Amino acid sequence: MSRAERKMDHIQFALSTGQSKKNMFNDIRFVHQALPNSAVSNRCIKPKTGDLNLESPVFINAMTGGGGRATQQLNSLLARVARETGMAMAVGSQMAALKDSNERQSYTVVRRENPNGILFGNLGSEATVQQAQDAVEMIEANALQIHLNVVQELTMPEGDRDFRGALERIQAIAEKLDVPVIVKETGFGISRETAEKLKGSAVSVIDVSGFGGTNFSLIENERRRIKMAYFDDWGIPTAAAIVEVKSVFDKTVFASGGIQNAQDMIKAFMLGADAVGLAGAFLKTAMQEGEKQLIDDIHALYEDLAMMMTALGANNLVDLQKCPAVITGELAQYLIARGFN
Ligand code: FNR
Repeated sequence: MSRAERKMDHIQFALSTGQSKKNMFNDIRFVHQALPNSAVSNRCIKPKTGDLNLESPVFINAMTGGGGRATQQLNSLLARVARETGMAMAVGSQMAALKDSNERQSYTVVRRENPNGILFGNLGSEATVQQAQDAVEMIEANALQIHLNVVQELTMPEGDRDFRGALERIQAIAEKLDVPVIVKETGFGISRETAEKLKGSAVSVIDVSGFGGTNFSLIENERRRIKMAYFDDWGIPTAAAIVEVKSVFDKTVFASGGIQNAQDMIKAFMLGADAVGLAGAFLKTAMQEGEKQLIDDIHALYEDLAMMMTALGANNLVDLQKCPAVITGELAQYLIARGFN
């Protein structure tokens, strides 16, 4: 199977059978405040993200590139949506373009469409410092995402089988690169133990990218004759992954993994996330309803955030961390079992 076919398979299955719905945000309930002393007009949804200086608290997470014209068109659409809504945007893994320069267009199009926007490059943890520098230069990236995807690789028949030395390579990249490094999972979540390992490095941001949205085990199992079903329900649900990472990592934390709407976002901010990334949900709207609808949806999302913040009495995203919420069900059990009280 060619790379272009594999990229299109990923998009196809992400839209159909490749989603799970257990990010555990449903186990969080807001506590209504009848005297919030707030006004919609005073809400500030600009996040605090240090060097990255994001305008919007929502960003388009890494998806694609390197699959010929189809992925170029998708990236170009997403880049225009990012431009119109002030969101940052990540491209998919750029390794394809580092190995085959014919694929560069499908990535560089995002900078052409959005010359002043915030763009994240993307590579796996097998990358060298030189490859990381080349990926940043290719799209004039403002930051580089390094993705961790052990389960995806293991479920891919043609995937990697050796993950040794990843932390050392990430550390070297984060030290040498001129732009911030974001370490992200790809839908299975980052644990306290993993965040602890990254804590001492020059990595600026962890994106927890937890379980409960796009599920690469389901996606890859669709492509396999002999299934590896034991990975289908494997990861750390996103709500739990935010708590895991926040408990040890005191720099910027992004949340992603199954985030669908403004309610999920408010819950992620309450747990301490500084910004949220969406891949699957944006892909679905882009492919099924088009560019204009996606732009309209995102503007509506910003309004929903301001409405809920008003009801909760939060002036900004950091205030949300002080708002009371009740955690029940599986999330409560998970947090107790892991010693987060
Ligand atoms: C992804 N994701 C991803 N991540 C990454 O770091 N590099 C990549 O190349 C890709 N490729 C990719 C393709 C497609 C089609 C999808 C849907 C997703 C993972 C993505 O950035 C995110 O971490 C997960 O999808 C979880 O978020 P959602 O989709 O549940 O919002």
